[in-house]
Amino acid sequence: MTRLHVNGALGRLGRVIVQLAEMSGEFAVTKSGRGDAVGELVDGCDVVIDVSQPEASVLVADECARRTKPVVVGTTGHSADQRQGLQRAAQRTALLLAPNFSVGVNLLFWLTEQTAKTLGPEFDAEVVEIHHRLKKDAPSGTAKRLGEIIAQVRALSYETSVRNGRAGLVGERTSGEIGIHAVRGGDVVGEHTVLFAGPGERLELSHKASSRETFARGALRAAHWILARAPGMYDMRDVLGLAER
Ligand SMILES: NC(=O)c1ccc[n+]([C@@H]2O[C@H](COP(=O)([O-])OP(=O)(O)OC[C@H]3O[C@@H](n4cnc5c(N)ncnc54)[C@H](OP(=O)(O)O)[C@@H]3O)[C@@H](O)[C@H]2O)c1
Repeated sequence: MTRLHVNGALGRLGRVIVQLAEMSGEFAVTKSGRGDAVGELVDGCDVVIDVSQPEASVLVADECARRTKPVVVGTTGHSADQRQGLQRAAQRTALLLAPNFSVGVNLLFWLTEQTAKTLGPEFDAEVVEIHHRLKKDAPSGTAKRLGEIIAQVRALSYETSVRNGRAGLVGERTSGEIGIHAVRGGDVVGEHTVLFAGPGERLELSHKASSRETFARGALRAAHWILARAPGMYDMRDVLGLAER
């Protein structure tokens, strides 16, 4: 039985992860949420999943690093400083950072890379994401990752090439920009579309999640996978065998 600790266990995703883990019979689960001290809980577990909020996820990753406990971070919306905090933790323990746990979205990452390479920069690339009205960060971590992939293929800097929405007299679109647009409403679990618009044709790659169970299943798969890994930063490509390293 794997001893799993879930931080953010009372949240929308945390609750589903705990439920699936307990139903599987493969995990003994402990839980924490806002205001809980996690040190002792981390001490007593084999692996941690964090699905809370950015600041908390860095603190939990640090607690894991001190005890060399592997940690899966599904939380999104980290600042550059917080990302560095996660990188520092990954020097001391195995840390898997996944803005999206779904198999389909991770395939979408791969397809986006291949498509951007094949179509070239004359195809304008834009990302549109839709999430439920309660989501706190925008654009989604998945949309950012899609933007990063396109920027990387085109040898552009993410910071200077991404346009987070457009308003006012913004001028003609340049080929060196990547638009990212966040739509919020209702109870949409998560949808991402990457558009490649070229001369006379447009290609769209879309993924639609209809249940949080798909994320929870991916999180538990990642937790199993990371158990015996050496310190370092990993992502879902490693779990799914899509990594080139
Ligand atoms: N990787 C993926 O596939 C995936 C999929 C969906 C969502 N996410 C991400 O996962 C995170 C959680 O999403 P969600 O929809 O479950 O959000 P949520 O419902 O707001 O859940 C977050 C939970 O974390 C708790 N929390 C807040 N501060 C905390 C702290 N300092 N320590 C411990 N827990 C704390 C919240 O408590 P309060 O209610 O008291 O604030 C809440 O119970 C978000 O970053 C979201 O973008 C990732």
